[in-house]
Amino acid sequence: MSIHTLKILFITHSFNSLAQRLYIELAQRGHEVSIELDINDAVTAQAVELYRPDLIVAPFLKRIIPEAIWRNHTCFVVHPGIVGDRGPSALDWAIMRDCAEWGVTVLQASGEMDAGDIWAAETFPMRLAKKSSLYRNEVIEAAVRAVLAAVERFQSGNFKPQPLDYSRPEVRGRLHAPIKQIDRAIDWQRDDTRAVLKKIHAADGFPGVLDMLCGEPYYLFDTCAEDALRGEPGAIIATRNGAICRATLDGAVWIGHLKRKTEGEPAFKLPATLALGKQLADAPEIPLDPFTDCAGETYRDIRFEQKNNVGYLHFAFYNGAMSTEQCERLREAYVAATQRDVRVIVLMGGADFWSNGIHLNCIEAAASPADESWRNINAMNDLMRAIITTGSQLTVAALQGNAGAGGVFLSLAADHVYARAGVVFNPHYKGMGNLYGSEYWTYLLPRRAGEARAAALTQNRLPVGAAQARQMGLIDGCFGTGRENFLARIEQIAEGLAASPDYPALLRDKTARRERDEQEKPLEAYRAEELQHMKLNFYGFDPSYHVARYNFVYKIPHAWTPLYLARHRRIT
Ligand code: COA
Repeated sequence: MSIHTLKILFITHSFNSLAQRLYIELAQRGHEVSIELDINDAVTAQAVELYRPDLIVAPFLKRIIPEAIWRNHTCFVVHPGIVGDRGPSALDWAIMRDCAEWGVTVLQASGEMDAGDIWAAETFPMRLAKKSSLYRNEVIEAAVRAVLAAVERFQSGNFKPQPLDYSRPEVRGRLHAPIKQIDRAIDWQRDDTRAVLKKIHAADGFPGVLDMLCGEPYYLFDTCAEDALRGEPGAIIATRNGAICRATLDGAVWIGHLKRKTEGEPAFKLPATLALGKQLADAPEIPLDPFTDCAGETYRDIRFEQKNNVGYLHFAFYNGAMSTEQCERLREAYVAATQRDVRVIVLMGGADFWSNGIHLNCIEAAASPADESWRNINAMNDLMRAIITTGSQLTVAALQGNAGAGGVFLSLAADHVYARAGVVFNPHYKGMGNLYGSEYWTYLLPRRAGEARAAALTQNRLPVGAAQARQMGLIDGCFGTGRENFLARIEQIAEGLAASPDYPALLRDKTARRERDEQEKPLEAYRAEELQHMKLNFYGFDPSYHVARYNFVYKIPHAWTPLYLARHRRIT
């Protein structure tokens, strides 16, 4: 290994989006990274012994690093807080306390949690948004900058990290207590809309705000403001596409997802109306057409907007998961978009996620998960086919957020694929209990990446950064670290295509290529072959997919680190 590159071991609670992004960035700079999930002290010690890393990085930990490790190795801990902030609820409190600025600090593990010497720190302006959204955007971008700076400083060999010193005026953070449900509780008779939004945002992702609904305890997630509807504070006054609307003192909020609080029994997040089921007696469903112009704030997961000759179809599904019903509504909206007077359709996904494929939580909740998996994948395939076979427009996929499994192939259905520079792709299904996958991936992936690379991508199960995806030909371009400059560039590209003198020729070429491909092997044949495998996954003797899905939705911790992550455990 060259003197300039390091052997880095990640110790992390899970290989989450931050760990994946850091893995990509460090690997791109020539470092060799191996991953050990934080299972227990003995396993961590064994990983260090096997790998003998130059440096240890902890992107996302819920426990402290064992003393025997931090005493003998430099360990960087990524803390999602400003310098001096200490404790496990960093972002939660920053949102609750309306901090105008927040940050990420890379500190060296020591005997006291988050109190070690500081190697690097970055800040960012806060916005009123879900904790999960701040984490997936601002925190990840700041963490990448801070970790890369810290690694360079470590490599230089002459950097002295700063001890934490609360007497310095620039050290603004403090030790905070872990946030409790009592701190998060909503008083519907006293809290105004902003206070309610803030409380639910600060708990988004995990653990949610504990509240009572229809006489039962639920954790609330996924909220946004409603400008028009009004009612008795706390009452459920409307539903829309799985979300419920609750009145506040001065307005109303939508709540998209709930998790039932159960004694002893595990539970998982579901769309609110599905979680409440029959208990939700008389709230009216107030639909909102994706094509309706609507200036005020409200809940809408699918939205179409048109500028000049370009149509933008937004689909912001929570966590990027797409249920049967969402796939069907999106296909209807897409088909309606093709009937508009537009030359280019830009598929926008959502601000935080592009798509993560079929909705594993809704499938788990169904009376027959096998039947629901079948319905969901077919609904996804119908949507894909509508996009692939579009002859009346050019299509562009604009990935603002990450894509996983079937969600990656959804983007490849478009004629042109562009991603924001920080986007992470997981173009594989295998981790979900050896799921074969469908979504016409056997057609779409090799035609972009080639057969050999397609096989490697699906087998290796590793995340791929946008730049790497561009190099492989998986996508056509990546740019803009921030959303705004990404979207501005996308608009330029789409307008450019629509106004191009070559537009008729481009459309003709596209149709001709589709016809040629169809002659060679019909789309239906790809679908039938893929579904043959999926049928075995859903209905066959091997229950691996059902077990993996169960573990995924109930968040059962890993008992060991998969070998495709833990290179130090591979026998070569
Ligand atoms: N269905 C339901 N929920 C999903 C989902 C899916 N297909 N994909 C992701 N989620 C949820 C996660 O449960 C998590 O929920 P949370 O709100 O409780 O945190 C959230 O989305 C974020 O996922 P997470 O795993 O933390 O994101 P990540 O960026 O760290 O990892 C993936 C991204 C794609 C590797 C990972 O989410 C994954 O493996 N998803 C499943 C993909 C899949 O197998 N789809 C089905 C086949 S098409």
